[in-house]
Amino acid sequence: MKALVLSGGSGTRLRPITHTSAKQLVPVANKPVLFYGLESLAAAGVTDVGIVVGHTAPEIEEAVGDGSAFGLNVSYIAQEEPLGLAHAVLISRDFLGDDDFVMYLGDNFIVGGITGLVEDFRRDRPDATILLTRVSDPRQFGVAVLGDDGTVAALEEKPEHPKSDLALVGVYLFSSAVHEAVRAVKPSWRGELEITDAIQYLIDDDARVHSEIIDGYWKDTGNVDDMLEVNRTILEGVEPRIDGEVDDASRIIGRVVVEPGAKVTGSRIVGPALIGAGTEVTDSYIGPYTAVAENCRILDSELEFSIMLRDSSLTGVRRIEASLIGRHVHGASRPRVPNAHRLVLGDHSTFEISS
Ligand code: DAU
Repeated sequence: MKALVLSGGSGTRLRPITHTSAKQLVPVANKPVLFYGLESLAAAGVTDVGIVVGHTAPEIEEAVGDGSAFGLNVSYIAQEEPLGLAHAVLISRDFLGDDDFVMYLGDNFIVGGITGLVEDFRRDRPDATILLTRVSDPRQFGVAVLGDDGTVAALEEKPEHPKSDLALVGVYLFSSAVHEAVRAVKPSWRGELEITDAIQYLIDDDARVHSEIIDGYWKDTGNVDDMLEVNRTILEGVEPRIDGEVDDASRIIGRVVVEPGAKVTGSRIVGPALIGAGTEVTDSYIGPYTAVAENCRILDSELEFSIMLRDSSLTGVRRIEASLIGRHVHGASRPRVPNAHRLVLGDHSTFEISS
């Protein structure tokens, strides 16, 4: 069995962060989302991995390399335009050959891995296995309707009026039967070749399509709120560890990781929280569910339930919460005269200030 990991696409919902970097590389708990997926493939014993890449290819290739750091053998498949998930399968035919494969969306996050699913697929040999989970707003996903006997009756991509609350999770298992299906589908209303339509083709063709409803934790990390939620979930499980310096005037409470070379001075850190290598936290408060990446400076500031990417700083800023702060971002307070805010924000930024 092989794996096809999809890491192209544009990441519009994570702008402006994704103007400058791939959405699959935005870190949660200081590790790129994509790496969690690669680790679960390795754990399931699927080592031959093709990664579909778009215009952010150089960055993905630099981060993942030949895959040996994950115990994987990775090759890259260039997709010139993000023309859809079925298009990604179409252009990967040479890599996939006639092998069974797992298709893993690089911005999806599943707790508990995929080992059991891969084992079931190897044993039962259906033509496709899809994963489903109940969601509150199915309109943002592919949606499945199950028949009375539990088989998949119909699938619809991002329907305006969903017929069920069962969303397609971004991990699929396929036999080589899917290749005929991806060749047959036509672009959808959003101009993409949808994998959802290809699976519908298999159903209409009386192929064996299995489904499994997962009640474990799953998130598509395509937007900021989901990203913060995944970050929160992972941080809840971190093993506390202080490898950096913490002075006597500081207090560390709960599950906190202070990475090597980090320096905490005169500050209070309430876990679960991560302080990345080389980061300095001085006279500040870092609250629960916060991941601060490497080489940040936080001085006389308060940060809670947030993700801060590397090489950024906060000086005299009170209190930031539920925020995603990009790389090389610098925030500071100024005296209240004149009573105004001065901002330098990239395109598609959002901000909220106290009125
Ligand atoms: O997250 C689950 C959902 O993923 C499913 O419920 C939907 O049925 C499925 O269509 C998909 O919907 P999204 O609109 O969320 O997919 P997105 O465009 O975010 O792409 C998912 C991943 O695949 C992402 O890492 C980018 C990558 N991608 C996407 C496209 C369209 C590619 O590599 N190439 C592409 O052409």
